[in-house]
Amino acid sequence: MAVDLGVVGLDVYVPTRRGYRRPYINLDNAASTPPLVAVARKVEEFLPWYASVHRGAGFKSRLATEIFEEARRIVVASFGFSPATNVAIFVKNATEALNKLAHRWPWEAGDIVISSLAEHHSNDLPWRKKARVLRLGLRPDGSLDLDHLASLLAAHAPRVKLVAITGASNVTGVLPDIHQAAILAHRYGAKIVVDAAQLAGHRPIFAFPDDDPRHLDFMALSGHKIYAPFGQGALIGPRSFFARGDPEYAGGGTVSFVTPESVAWALPPARDEAGTPNTIGAVAMAVALKTLQAADLSRLARREYGLTKRLYGGLARIPGVVLYGPPFPTVDRIGIVSFNLAGLPHGLVAAVLACDYAIGVRSGCFCAHPYVAWLLGTGGTTPPPGPERPGMVRVSLGLYNTEEDVDRLLHAIAEIAAESGYYRRCYEYEEGEGIWWPRGWRPEWGKWFRL
Ligand SMILES: Cc1ncc(COP(=O)(O)O)c(C=O)c1O
Repeated sequence: MAVDLGVVGLDVYVPTRRGYRRPYINLDNAASTPPLVAVARKVEEFLPWYASVHRGAGFKSRLATEIFEEARRIVVASFGFSPATNVAIFVKNATEALNKLAHRWPWEAGDIVISSLAEHHSNDLPWRKKARVLRLGLRPDGSLDLDHLASLLAAHAPRVKLVAITGASNVTGVLPDIHQAAILAHRYGAKIVVDAAQLAGHRPIFAFPDDDPRHLDFMALSGHKIYAPFGQGALIGPRSFFARGDPEYAGGGTVSFVTPESVAWALPPARDEAGTPNTIGAVAMAVALKTLQAADLSRLARREYGLTKRLYGGLARIPGVVLYGPPFPTVDRIGIVSFNLAGLPHGLVAAVLACDYAIGVRSGCFCAHPYVAWLLGTGGTTPPPGPERPGMVRVSLGLYNTEEDVDRLLHAIAEIAAESGYYRRCYEYEEGEGIWWPRGWRPEWGKWFRL
């Protein structure tokens, strides 16, 4: 049966500064992906059955509990983790997953985490609060230097407890070899956590059996980056790990019994899921993973490669475009390309794309200040927000984007590059909002959506 990879909202027209409406193109998928039609349909189908999960006695509660737990099994199985020894803890996003792991780790004085310079802040700041963080460096082209990982591990084992690296960079799309990193971490007695927020929607991930040196010990993911934007994320890891220690949030659902003086924590995953869980988000995440698998992520990746080649090559040919990260295709990457246009602030380029061309991208430092500063060569600091703050424009592809989408972007960038003086005059920076707007123009939001 053909897999329906349609996404909701593809045929939407939005207003432009020029006075007419244009079909919207979303090229900001690294931030959030729209829901798959299959996900939205299943959520709608489930809504009449929605009820309290776990201790509810009614039929709907028992059914909803079955579905919630099946969703958890699907999440674990989707990445090849053994369900006997591994568990998915439902959280709201990858950020919460990584903070949970940082909180739940049994740290001792002197413990070290090796992270990289290319991490999203969510896979950097949680470790800084708990351990000494050593940073795996970058090769001159911006890709992660695993030789450096080997030397850091050799120099600092056995104090290195965890290697925390991204599965794919949200700035350049580069894909570190996570299994090679796992082999190195395990060789020196450390564990690995992969921030799969970006990777999971683009490539198949296989965790390998627990006793395989390539095994991924922990993985963090976000539903809204895999076409299931219903507030769900997951942290996958060994059941035994979550069976010890105190959860960071205590309360309903986390205990097996409580006396006025004591508490006995529940077994995983309940110990780590305080309060009423997001059953709808779990349904959405499981359906998204099943759909992506059925569609064959390797096949989708080959298609994305072609689009990325078109995007990267097209941008490289536009005078004034400066591209960041390894030149395509020297290093394996997902469909993310970051660039600047000489003489124009990145935020202005993004605003013109939005308000003149109806193309949604993102600009700035993408919650990865150290990596962006390194790529820009601006040194270790990122100045406070303002119209000339260093940053980049990021284009990120989703599985539904087409050659026409890429061509429309390239055409727009070429026009903006050729008319940079004109666009500088037409737009102004709004200090309060911290973004650029066309002078004297704002959409009438109420015409588009009302609560
Ligand atoms: C690589 C990476 N890790 C972590 C995150 C955090 O994801 P979330 O905001 O869903 O918690 C992001 C978000 O952009 C990301 O790109």
